Amino acid sequence: MAKRYILGIESSCDETSAGIIDADFNLLSNVIHSQTTHSLYGGVVPEIASREHVVKIEAIVDLALEKAGLNINDISLIAATSSPGLIGAVLVGLSFAKGLAFATGIPFVGVNHMDGHVYANFIDHGKIEMPFLSLVVSGGHTFLMRTDSYTKREILGQTLDDAAGEAFDKIGKMLGLNYPAGREISELALKGDPDFVKFPRPLIHRKDYNFSFSGLKTAVLNYLKTKDQVFIKTHLCDIAASVEEAIVDVLSKKTARCLKDIGMSRILLAGGVACNNKLREKTELSINSRNKLYFPSPILCTDNGAMIAAAGEIKYSVSGADTFDLNAEAVFKI
Ligand code: KG4
Ligand code: ZN
Repeated sequence: MAKRYILGIESSCDETSAGIIDADFNLLSNVIHSQTTHSLYGGVVPEIASREHVVKIEAIVDLALEKAGLNINDISLIAATSSPGLIGAVLVGLSFAKGLAFATGIPFVGVNHMDGHVYANFIDHGKIEMPFLSLVVSGGHTFLMRTDSYTKREILGQTLDDAAGEAFDKIGKMLGLNYPAGREISELALKGDPDFVKFPRPLIHRKDYNFSFSGLKTAVLNYLKTKDQVFIKTHLCDIAASVEEAIVDVLSKKTARCLKDIGMSRILLAGGVACNNKLREKTELSINSRNKLYFPSPILCTDNGAMIAAAGEIKYSVSGADTFDLNAEAVFKI
């Protein structure tokens, strides 16, 4: 029997990406174009994002096929992000995928971007047995989700305000760093003292599994207002390390408690902030040694087409193809 290959297309924010995996979740290619124009504005400008996706999408898909050594006729399934995201940006990839599927007769599925982040783990670790808990931490979302099966999922807690990645990015802006700032903060933090400033750990002792990062953001702003530029420059690494410590402390401790309370043994980290080494280390230290922690390699943590292919393959195996009237949605729903 011919091998199944899945093409995944991602365009929900500022990455135009196409990736190809096989049905065993082996990665064949993952072409990612990150739009850099947005750093001029300190955040993603939706209209610019949509226009740049339009310009790049066809070449990115062609390159993904070329790198995988495949022709479009070798593809068995086309998956594209259909929600959540910047609506104009999502529509570019989704419409392109539908057009390609219509022209070739290849089945098509629309994928929830957040599922993509979770199932990115399957590309590095193979199919992970359910049930599992996932901590999904990206620029736009932060939540703990239990997955009993593809269709039986439940959000156990989520951020009440800013997402964890958003906190890194907004605090980075206050520190004069470029957008997105998560990676740079974590690099500066390596040379800093995480106990230099004891920033608040919002909701860390609350029994529920919700998060909140906007108070931390204000605390950092108020702290910076009391210091002059020379002090901030001299202690940039210490401040970055203290910020990272506060965010990661809350995420890792609440995740470990949630895992224990619900009696699960597998925890998956997902989303751009899952690149953060401190988060990986602290979560590993916070959970029981009998539990198993999974996280994707950094390139699969941030937005990419291969993760959409992985989630598409799971969705297709459970509920088959979508029809072309599937619409894009901006808001996250499960
Ligand atoms: O999942 P993602 O690529 O895009 C969204 O769906 O939002 O996540 C991007 C987020 C940004 O906020 C970025 O600052 C953050 O992931 N990020 C990190 C690191 N690398 C990326 N945050 C902390 N530490 C990192 N090493
Ligand atoms: Zn994402």
